Amino acid sequence: MTKGNDTTITDELYQYMLAHNPPLDPVQRELVDTTYAQFPDHAGMVSAEEQAPLLAFLVRLVGARHVVEVGTFTGFSALAMARALPADGTLIACDISEEWTAYGRAAWEKAGVADRIDLRIAPALDTLRAMPAEPHIDFAYLDADKGGYIAYWEELVP
Ligand SMILES: C[S@@+](CC[C@H](N)C(=O)[O-])C[C@H]1O[C@@H](n2cnc3c(N)ncnc32)[C@H](O)[C@@H]1O
Repeated sequence: MTKGNDTTITDELYQYMLAHNPPLDPVQRELVDTTYAQFPDHAGMVSAEEQAPLLAFLVRLVGARHVVEVGTFTGFSALAMARALPADGTLIACDISEEWTAYGRAAWEKAGVADRIDLRIAPALDTLRAMPAEPHIDFAYLDADKGGYIAYWEELVP
């Protein structure tokens, strides 16, 4: 069903898309399920299931070694991107919540990628402003307070 350039994501289309995506592995599935169980009022913030393989694909596509994520929550998208990095790759994960990101830390340990992820608990703009110019950033995922995106962009792109 299309209208102009928009495609309506019907239930049928969404199920088709999920069926043609790689399924979540046990660590990812447990993390999503735990997030919904522990934080039912906020769990809608988790990146959509089909975005995990997309993010991993994009990280691999550009051969990223250094990734920044702004907005980590319980660590689902960071897990997907960290797994797609080479063993010596790094992901700086920015968030302001120790409570939410603790679930991410546990999942990253379980998945064997904790050593690639450097979690910084502070307003993301402070973290980005304190980052050195080198090594450069290959890939960034903005998924936090929408009002901050222009400032994040201006810090990240140079
Ligand atoms: C949409 S959620 C991120 C979801 C995550 N990418 C995932 O896939 O599960 C947004 C996150 O941004 C964080 N956040 C909001 N304002 C922030 C700020 N100024 N600096 C850093 N993180 C912030 C929130 O604590 C929340 O965890």
